[in-house]
Amino acid sequence: MNILVIGSGGREHALVWKLSMSPRVSRLYCAPGNPGIASLARCIPLKANDTSGLIEFAKRESIDLLVVGPEQPLAEGIVDRCQEKGLTVFGPTSAAAQLEWSKAFAKDFMDRHKIPTAAYRTFSADQIADARAYVEACPLPVVLKADGLAAGKGVAVCTERGEALSALHQMAEEKVFGAAGSVIVVEEFMRGQEASVFAVCDGQRYVTLAPAQDHKRVFDGDRGKNTGGMGAYAPTPVVTPAALREIERTIIVPTLQGMAAERRPYAGCLYVGLMMTETGPKVVEYNCRFGDPETQVVLPLYRGDLAELLLASACGDLSGAESPAVNGNAVCVILASGGYPDAYAAGFPIDGLDRAAGVPGAMLFHAGTKEEQGRVATAGGRVLGVTSLVDGGLDEAVSLAYRVAEMITFEGMHFRRDIGAKGLATSAERQ
Ligand code: AMP
Ligand code: GLY
Repeated sequence: MNILVIGSGGREHALVWKLSMSPRVSRLYCAPGNPGIASLARCIPLKANDTSGLIEFAKRESIDLLVVGPEQPLAEGIVDRCQEKGLTVFGPTSAAAQLEWSKAFAKDFMDRHKIPTAAYRTFSADQIADARAYVEACPLPVVLKADGLAAGKGVAVCTERGEALSALHQMAEEKVFGAAGSVIVVEEFMRGQEASVFAVCDGQRYVTLAPAQDHKRVFDGDRGKNTGGMGAYAPTPVVTPAALREIERTIIVPTLQGMAAERRPYAGCLYVGLMMTETGPKVVEYNCRFGDPETQVVLPLYRGDLAELLLASACGDLSGAESPAVNGNAVCVILASGGYPDAYAAGFPIDGLDRAAGVPGAMLFHAGTKEEQGRVATAGGRVLGVTSLVDGGLDEAVSLAYRVAEMITFEGMHFRRDIGAKGLATSAERQ
């Protein structure tokens, strides 16, 4: 089978890495890819949003399966366009991906289908005065969200009234997130630990992968600004096997049934962002794709053939697939550029890659790198994901990931030192 993966980050490197292990894969391409991906797949200089170029390439090279990594092309309907052309593609249609590209749609959908989530109100552009009155009186903390895609930045968790009013002003009046802020969701603050569960779906059936925990804030102890994700580990003890069954029963099954009933059946990866509250798991957000950096720990733990799984999803027939048992632990530490998530400089050479890549049980997933005069240099905010995979416990996976992370250096590099710590604390509390 010939596969084309679309995207260029750490998530796509992990997808390509896992797909490259499948005996069913003959030729593997990635568009546009990155220098890490280039050692496993042929990188094609086509952007992820160049739908016509990608379709033309897929036809010409007899691609049997396209795998779409990022949300933007999914929201823009790349799957619909590929299907119209008779191509087999992994990912949801634009109508199904609305679970991610409109938070107001997702909230109303959960309301219609009694799926547990935070209580909320939505306000459109002509209801700003009502929104202000509501935010002036609502309980604190409160969470404000721009409706549309905002590269993970359109959410403000506000503990003070002034902060909430100013977030509202920025989203609704200053339009800092552009059109994404033309509808605002104001929602109840939920307390608990967060977790990410990925369900690979075929429209009706699903397979869940190892539950993971992301680390969205830039500094240790979940302090500082939100980022794209500074690290992840799996399986997280925050989601026990019993909790995973509850998540399937109260969230994943009703989501798939609801989407099918509304004639937008969901196929692809359904990423459920969860808050494990005192009253059970609740949805923080849906994403319509694999998460980054969770994929860098979830896929190494997957013992099955990823090409078969994604093909079965794309063909609408997961009847033979089962949610696999998970053994071992994986941790991913993101090495970021100095200044990230704010402005940062790039183009710094990266040292220590070869030695780090040689450590057994370690994988280096490239995110923001480029090749310059035969050397790998930084080219993004999140530069590399150092993943460890061990048969042993989470503590072992944490030590290995940090041992390898310490071998790599580039100017300004920073990373969190506490990836996995909440998982270790949760396990310790239970003993
Ligand atoms: P989102 O982009 O929707 O995942 O939101 C970004 C982050 O904001 C989440 O990972 C949570 O940490 C936080 N967040 C979002 N919604 C809520 C909520 N209702 N209660 C508490 N925290 C939230
Ligand atoms: N890890 C967060 C995301 O992929 O949206």
